[in-house]
Amino acid sequence: MVERVQAEESMALLIFLLLAFSVVSADEDAFIGVNIGTQLSDMPHPTQVVALLKAQQIRHVRLYDADRGMLLALANTGIRVVVSVPNEQLLGIGQSNSTAANWVSQNVVAHFPATNITTICVGSEVLTTLPNAALVLINALKFVHSALVASNLDRQIKVSTPFASSLILDSFPPSQAFFNHSWNSVLVPTLNFLQTTGSFLMLNIYPYYDYMQSNGVIPLDYALLKPLPSNKEAVDANTLLHYSNVFDAMVDAAYFAMAYLKFTNIPVVVTESGWPSKGDSNEPDATVENANTYNSNLIKHVLNKTGTPKHPGIAVSTYIYELYNEDMKPGPVSEKNWGLFDANGKPIYILHLVGSGSVLANDTANQTYCAAKDGADSKMLLAALDWACGSGKVDCSPLLQGKPCYEPDTVAAHATYAFDTYYHQMGKALGTCDFNGVAAITTTNPSRGSCIFPGSDKINGTFLNSTAPAMDVKSSGAPAQCFYGGAFSIAFIIIGVLGWSAVLL
Ligand SMILES: *[C@@H]1O[C@H](CO)[C@@H](O)[C@H](O)[C@H]1NC(C)=O
Ligand SMILES: *[C@@H]1O[C@H](CO)[C@@H](O)[C@H](O)[C@H]1NC(C)=O
Ligand SMILES: *[C@@H]1O[C@H](CO)[C@@H](O)[C@H](O)[C@H]1NC(C)=O
Ligand SMILES: *[C@@H]1O[C@H](CO)[C@@H](O)[C@H](O)[C@H]1NC(C)=O
Ligand SMILES: *[C@@H]1O[C@H](CO)[C@@H](O)[C@H](O)[C@H]1NC(C)=O
Ligand SMILES: *[C@@H]1O[C@H](CO)[C@@H](O)[C@H](O)[C@H]1NC(C)=O
Ligand SMILES: *[C@@H]1O[C@H](CO)[C@@H](O)[C@H](O)[C@H]1NC(C)=O
Ligand SMILES: *[C@@H]1O[C@H](CO)[C@@H](O)[C@H](O)[C@H]1NC(C)=O
Repeated sequence: MVERVQAEESMALLIFLLLAFSVVSADEDAFIGVNIGTQLSDMPHPTQVVALLKAQQIRHVRLYDADRGMLLALANTGIRVVVSVPNEQLLGIGQSNSTAANWVSQNVVAHFPATNITTICVGSEVLTTLPNAALVLINALKFVHSALVASNLDRQIKVSTPFASSLILDSFPPSQAFFNHSWNSVLVPTLNFLQTTGSFLMLNIYPYYDYMQSNGVIPLDYALLKPLPSNKEAVDANTLLHYSNVFDAMVDAAYFAMAYLKFTNIPVVVTESGWPSKGDSNEPDATVENANTYNSNLIKHVLNKTGTPKHPGIAVSTYIYELYNEDMKPGPVSEKNWGLFDANGKPIYILHLVGSGSVLANDTANQTYCAAKDGADSKMLLAALDWACGSGKVDCSPLLQGKPCYEPDTVAAHATYAFDTYYHQMGKALGTCDFNGVAAITTTNPSRGSCIFPGSDKINGTFLNSTAPAMDVKSSGAPAQCFYGGAFSIAFIIIGVLGWSAVLL
């Protein structure tokens, strides 16, 4: 009875949340997009890329060029597209207005409006990676813009150029940040251009590198946008604004650096941000867990429209770097591992959005499992296990001594079996892999030996060696009971907060 009342309350709450979120989503200017790099040895065909975008409900993408196949595949999808003039073509475009006009006509006008091109990036991090093209940057911006004006598209399509955040010096405290003065002769006309054309400052922000290069000055949690106790926040002594993450501090540094040059009304869009999921031995913080934490927190932060301390409530739309792992990228291992997906469209990790459920990195391969979280409290695991085998109606007999799933006899291993079974019994519905926060969705098949987990029966026997990470955790608590009979069933509410999928992207 108690459980039913709570279920009804939770349903009411869910409906309330859905309504609340749909109001937020009505605001068009807060969005998350994804960058699509193409340096893959087996780059998926544009139609496959677009199928993945649709399945994941990704509605904003940035291309590093204006690939015709991609632009055709993106036609009539509703997906908003940023195209780019690659750095290699910048000199040509910045030196000749007819070259610029041809580029716009072939790569933009020919596809618009079927392909909803909203923005043109002219070059990428030009001042820091291609300084000898800096002198033509402003002309390239102007020529591209003039070509849009001539085609009467300048109101629908904005023109800008992404800057590396390293262009901003002394970025903490943000109130003292300024652009590298060496570039003022380029920056002032560029900002002037952005202001008069109603465009925005594009900034690439990589807290991962800021953290790596800080020699321990920047705490990991501060880089990962984790909630910090207020006494750990960084305070800007000039403004008394409190910063709880690198991302906000960099965005505010950009606002202050612009203000220093007397530009106060140019909005910021973050054209790249992310975290690598794998790295060399000297990149120990490039992990799946950190990548997931960063990107999940970033998405929540952007969509929540928290804004920054300087401009609270002003959302900073952000493009995550990036859709695919790019195995052909030169450099350290981390360079190849910024993606949310592999070339087959299989998620590298399932984002933690609102604690449970998969939203962005959707289960397209249909192979997700529900496992006990690493380090979860063993009493809570035991209670959840007990609930799953009792009220949850999971057949836990394979966990009995002598049965296939008895070994390893730990609470975490047994809980994973029960959680995964429940999750699949419930059709992998959102919110059915939470168990009061002690369970999480994983793409690692927890099956081992003859203990075949639900969700993996299609590949019977081919994964006998794989062990879920959760299995490695030796629970410090009591050994698992042989029968989880519901001795202390907990009233347990699953609130699948579907709201995010409605808001996302
Ligand atoms: C290019 O510039 C020349 C001279 O500055 C001008 O006459 C011409 O109209 C421009 N062409 C375009 C396509 O804007
Ligand atoms: C294209 O994107 C813009 C900006 O988001 C939007 O206002 C417009 O309605 C879109 N057009 C189409 C045809 O979807
Ligand atoms: C500022 O930019 C100049 C020109 O690219 C560069 O040589 C210099 O190192 C930069 N200064 C800093 C502190 O990064
Ligand atoms: C949005 O941010 C505010 C302030 O940081 C926080 O209190 C609130 O819980 C957040 N809401 C969501 C839905 O994340
Ligand atoms: C996941 O993908 C399926 C199609 O494969 C789609 O129907 C579903 O809406 C997606 N769910 C989310 C939350 O994106
Ligand atoms: C995923 O699995 C469900 C049943 O578990 C099935 O109904 C659905 O068609 C599958 N989807 C794909 C894309 O394989
Ligand atoms: C799965 O493997 C087990 C043991 O190898 C075997 O007994 C069982 O018949 C297999 N199931 C299917 C569906 O192939
Ligand atoms: C399973 O593990 C053993 C040793 O642990 C190894 O020799 C064997 O090749 C593995 N099998 C597969 C299919 O990975």
